[in-house]
Amino acid sequence: MTLVNDTSAFELDQGEPTLRKLVDPFRRAITYLRVSVTDRCDFRCVYCMSEHMTFLPKADLLTLEELDRLCSAFVAKGVNKLRLTGGEPLVRRGIMTLVSSLSRHLASGALKELTLTTNGSQLQKYAAELKTNGVRRINVSLDTLNADKFRAVTRWGDLENVMAGIDAAQAQGLSVKINAVALKGVNEDEIVDLIEWSHGRGMDLTVIEVMPLGDVDESRLGQYLPLSIVRARLAERFTLEDIDYRTGGPARYVHVKETGGRLGFITPLTHNFCESCNRVRITCTGTLYMCLGQNDAADLRRPLRASESNEFLYSAIDEAIARKPKGHDFVIDRRHMKPALSRHMSMTGG
Ligand SMILES: C[S@@+](CC[C@H](N)C(=O)[O-])C[C@H]1O[C@@H](n2cnc3c(N)ncnc32)[C@H](O)[C@@H]1O
Ligand code: SF4
Repeated sequence: MTLVNDTSAFELDQGEPTLRKLVDPFRRAITYLRVSVTDRCDFRCVYCMSEHMTFLPKADLLTLEELDRLCSAFVAKGVNKLRLTGGEPLVRRGIMTLVSSLSRHLASGALKELTLTTNGSQLQKYAAELKTNGVRRINVSLDTLNADKFRAVTRWGDLENVMAGIDAAQAQGLSVKINAVALKGVNEDEIVDLIEWSHGRGMDLTVIEVMPLGDVDESRLGQYLPLSIVRARLAERFTLEDIDYRTGGPARYVHVKETGGRLGFITPLTHNFCESCNRVRITCTGTLYMCLGQNDAADLRRPLRASESNEFLYSAIDEAIARKPKGHDFVIDRRHMKPALSRHMSMTGG
């Protein structure tokens, strides 16, 4: 393959100009895009948002058409996995129009997977449409099986409704993975129950270490529970067998012999998972973050709006990917009890 020239968005493949694929300076192919379609949410999880969040003015958000164009530009440049997230993706008005329109890339074979991460609150309403539009797997975030604790953690959520949403998704044949954030003093005594419940329903479970993103009302150090401790405790109860299973993400998986299910650990603070990073993230305003743990970002809204052709957009994407850092450096600043990064997870979608 020959480059047309160094700055061109195109390269020659067997003599034909094709769009330059996304490869970062560390030779990692960027094939996975996570898109936050809204910063809004119908929950206020204690580790994610403060109770009285200020959301972006609606006018700042990309329209559904712009989101489609942006995602499609990445697909044209080799992204084959797209995850919609948020905020809560399913509270964005008209979201199924976007899902339906993006599903054309599944039909064409350009996209291998269209998926989403959701809090489950709207799944009863949307499970069937997700299935019709080619979504096969979804991640549902659920930190506790106790209704009172669920209300305390999410502030506004209703466990029964989320459970009914999970039922609806499974009834449609969607494969569901549960994500639970491990929270000191909150759900640390429930991880065993969560494993047995998820695996009993044929769902993988991934436990996530709390990440220092954005100011929330409670101290990060108070919430932080190292997964090394969780894992050591689980090993007293279960036989955890390391397996090679990878989803292209940061989770390391084990097979739990007693339940026959898969358990993932995402440990951004205690281990680095950057060497195999294949992903980038876009906020609902069109800002591209090349790394979840760094502040460097590129504005794609401007080139998107500057012209109806994608030329500027492709160049902006190429320039940004050329700056993708090798890895991140999350730290909780213990002196000031402040997060290392001031943006919330609901901006970049986790
Ligand atoms: C920001 S949410 C967006 C999608 C959807 N609202 C949900 O909750 O699944 C994506 C994931 O990020 C996780 N999350 C949010 N804030 C976090 C933090 N500070 N540390 C670790 N995980 C976090 C949530 O638990 C959720 O699994
Ligand atoms: S974790 Fe998800 S559900 Fe909870 S407040 Fe953040 S965006 Fe909303």
